[in-house]
Amino acid sequence: MTTSSDQEKVVIFDTTLRDGEQSPGISLDAAEKLEIAEQLARLGVDYIEAGFPVASQGDFDAVQAIARSVEGPVVAALSRTQRSDVDRCFEALAEAERCRIHVFISTSPSHMEHMLKMTPAQVLEEVRQGVGRAREHTNDVEFSPQDATRTPLDFMLEVLGASVEAGATTLNIPDTVGYGIPWDFGDLVAHIRREIPGDYVLSTHCHNDLGLAVANSLSGVRAGARQVEVCVNGLGERAGNAALEEVVMALRIRQDQFPSLTSSVRTEELARTSRLVSRLTGYQLQWNKAVVGRNAFAHESGIHQHGVLAERSTYEIIDAASVGQVGSQIVLGKHSGRHAFAETLDKLGITLRGEALDAAFRRFKELADRKVQLTDADLEAIAAEEIGTTLEVGFTLDVLEVHGGNLETPKARVVVARDGQRSEAVAEGDGMIDAACSAIRKATGIDAQLTGFNVSSVTGGLDALGDVVIQLESGGVKVSGRGLSTDVVEASARAYLAAANRIVRSTARATRQGEIGP
Ligand code: KIV
Ligand code: ZN
Repeated sequence: MTTSSDQEKVVIFDTTLRDGEQSPGISLDAAEKLEIAEQLARLGVDYIEAGFPVASQGDFDAVQAIARSVEGPVVAALSRTQRSDVDRCFEALAEAERCRIHVFISTSPSHMEHMLKMTPAQVLEEVRQGVGRAREHTNDVEFSPQDATRTPLDFMLEVLGASVEAGATTLNIPDTVGYGIPWDFGDLVAHIRREIPGDYVLSTHCHNDLGLAVANSLSGVRAGARQVEVCVNGLGERAGNAALEEVVMALRIRQDQFPSLTSSVRTEELARTSRLVSRLTGYQLQWNKAVVGRNAFAHESGIHQHGVLAERSTYEIIDAASVGQVGSQIVLGKHSGRHAFAETLDKLGITLRGEALDAAFRRFKELADRKVQLTDADLEAIAAEEIGTTLEVGFTLDVLEVHGGNLETPKARVVVARDGQRSEAVAEGDGMIDAACSAIRKATGIDAQLTGFNVSSVTGGLDALGDVVIQLESGGVKVSGRGLSTDVVEASARAYLAAANRIVRSTARATRQGEIGP
């Protein structure tokens, strides 16, 4: 694809909402997915893979909502090769301005034997049928031979050739288990380019099991791939996918290595996109994460500080402002009204409407009453806490009372409400947080196991808002919830309740339709 006289475009295919959502414990509501999709559009990605419609009704609904309303990027969705899957995939995408069907099937001996229980000849036939059917719906069809890097080369070439004959316009090479090494993955891409004739775009889809996803993706680009499949913050199955922000910045900063290649990403939106995804998924970023981590532009040693003060480029290859890493500014306080609140959110690129906006404003007022001023980071966190909470009725926390200290057994009393019904419970615990969570467990009747707990502060300082993320597991369903407060016990109780509400929703969704995964 050529963008200007001598510039060639690397297509950015974001799969945060599909592969990223397959990370353990992530379960996004349709409203949260829509919020992320809108931010991805603002970021300027070319494709948003919005989900896997046949996996569940929830996925179908989210893909449909994104296809209906998100403007700019092409909306893609994943499909197995079966005709009914492809049709369902298109049904979810039908209202998009532009759409892509992404058809996949496993091609490695191990997957064909143990999972598909199909012969290579049957798999070839499936590819022809599935891609052919997708082409009847749209002329933008991507094909992926799953576990490509462990597929014998001859068979992969045969499968890819068949997919091009059936109408595939993008050939994606998934390193499904993160087995690739940069130079051999690059050789593979170059080999495919040489051997498969036709008018198609080659794409990389690299997982990070050996920590090489970004390096492999870049090696693929160097060898001729013109699409990269990436996730914000490197989310994805197991160790994740190639991180969008790292691939994009490597292409930009090392233009000497990728001459005349460009992407359409507005890099100033990278930090905000990263924060939004982190907040809504409950996956916190490591401090030293490249490009978007809080330490990415922090300098500890005196020599480095001196150098950066004298001339930024002495120790920084990226300008922090160019990726949106700018300090929090004080924006609103307890006297600010709803209008100012909504306007500020708007400036931050957060689109809350109706009930969600009302709920966020109420939370803002509660918190502003306890904290002198709220920064833009605080506001982003408040908004993230509310997105999706008004979608379906859940429990709300009406009362929380805790007693503790080093002399008495910690106790908590809570009152929760759902559909106008109030329920009260009292519990003891190892500490006040434990007691509060136990009381919520009793009051809601949702029996779940706590599998993760993380507390951090939204901004620095003693008066910072506490930001708690809790992971729960119940009957095989893994979810996370987030809570904010000036008080860590209350933030924990809110996070616990948010996660419990997700269990209610996920269980309801899963029972509405049996779920499957790629
Ligand atoms: O990792 C993988 O193989 C995938 C495919 C479905 C493209 O995510
Ligand atoms: Zn994948």
